[in-house]
Amino acid sequence: MKQQDGSIHDLYQKGKENLNKKKIDWSYPPDSAIGASVRANRLFLDSLFFETRLLDPVDPSISCSILGTRLSTPLFCSPLSQNEFLSEEDLLLIARGVQQADALMMLGIGSEKLLQRTVNQGAKVVKIVKPYQDTELIFKKVSQARECGCVAVGMDIDHFYGRLRGDRVDRNMAFGPKSSTEIRQIIAESKLPFIVKGVLSPIDAEKAFQLGASAIIVSNHGPSAIDFSVPSTIALPRISKNFAGKLEIFVDSGFKTGNDIVKALALGAEAVGFASSMILAYMADGTQGVEALINLLSAELRRTMAATGCADLKGITGSIIEDCSSLQNKFS
Ligand SMILES: Cc1cc2nc3c(=O)[nH]c(=O)nc-3n(C[C@H](O)[C@H](O)[C@H](O)COP(=O)(O)O)c2cc1C
Repeated sequence: MKQQDGSIHDLYQKGKENLNKKKIDWSYPPDSAIGASVRANRLFLDSLFFETRLLDPVDPSISCSILGTRLSTPLFCSPLSQNEFLSEEDLLLIARGVQQADALMMLGIGSEKLLQRTVNQGAKVVKIVKPYQDTELIFKKVSQARECGCVAVGMDIDHFYGRLRGDRVDRNMAFGPKSSTEIRQIIAESKLPFIVKGVLSPIDAEKAFQLGASAIIVSNHGPSAIDFSVPSTIALPRISKNFAGKLEIFVDSGFKTGNDIVKALALGAEAVGFASSMILAYMADGTQGVEALINLLSAELRRTMAATGCADLKGITGSIIEDCSSLQNKFS
C-alpha cells in the first residue's frame, strides 16, 4: 500500500468546496441533513468504542478474498451511476483510483461501453443491475456483465419504488418489485457470483441464500430508497449471526472512516462499501483523490487493528467493540 499524506476529512472538505465552486447543489454530502436511516447509522457507529489490546502488538494484514477475487483491502466503491454532475468518464476515472488502490469497483446504471472500458483498464468490477420492470432487459444487462468480464453481478432490490429525493420519488417508471421466481431465474442465468443489494432482514437474507445468491449487501441505499428502513448497522449483526459462512456479507450506508470499517467488520461484515465518500474524494483530487482515500481508510483500519490486537480481518470480532450509547447523555 502506498504511504499517503493528508487526512480523510481534508479530502471530504476539499470535495465539498470544489462542488460549491462549480455551483453544484448536491443534497447528499454525508454529514448534512439526510435520511433517518443514514443518520441512525452514524449515531450508532459513533457510539461504538474500541477495547484496546496494546501489549505485544501485531502487524495486521488486511488483504482478503471477496467474491473469489484477491484484494489489498476489504472495501469497495458501492455502485455508482451517472448523475447530474458525474459523467461516464468521471465514473471511469473513479474506477481507476479504486483499481490503483486494489479495491473493488461496483457500477450501477450505465452503458455496456462504460462497463467494458472499466474492465479493460484493469479494474475488478461488479455490475449491479436495476430491478427493471422489463425482466428481458435485466437478462440482457446480466449477460453483458458476464461478457465484459465482471467478477460478479447483482441487483439492488430496494430500488423498485424508484429513487427517493427528500420526500419525492423520481426515476420510478422503469423499476418494479421482483419475485423470488424471477430472481432465481436471473441468478441461474447470470453464471457469475450474484449479489443481492438492499437486504435488511434475516427473512430476505434467507431468501437470497435459498435462491442461490453468493453475497448480500446490507444497505439502506444511502437516503434514496426507503426512509426509516432499519439502519444497516443495526440489521447487520442480526443477519451475520445466521448467515456468516453461507453468504458473503457486505455493508454500506454512511461509512466514512477506517475506524468505521473496523466497526462494520466487528458487527459481522466482510467488506464495506463507500459511495458518497468516493465522490467527495474524486471531487477533491480526481483519480488520485480516490486512491488517496482508499489508502487513508486502509491505513486507519490497520492502525486500529494493531491497537486492538487483530492480526488479520478474521480476528476482528464483536469482542473489540463496546456499545457506549447509554453513556451519550453523560458525555453531552
Ligand atoms: C451518485 C450515486 C449513484 C448511485 N447509483 C447507484 C446504483 O446505480 N445502484 C445502486 O445499487 N446504488 C447506487 N447508489 C447507492 C450507493 O451504492 C450506496 O448504496 C449509498 O450511496 C450508500 O453509501 P454511502 O453512504 O457511502 O454513500 C448510488 C449513490 C450515489 C451517491
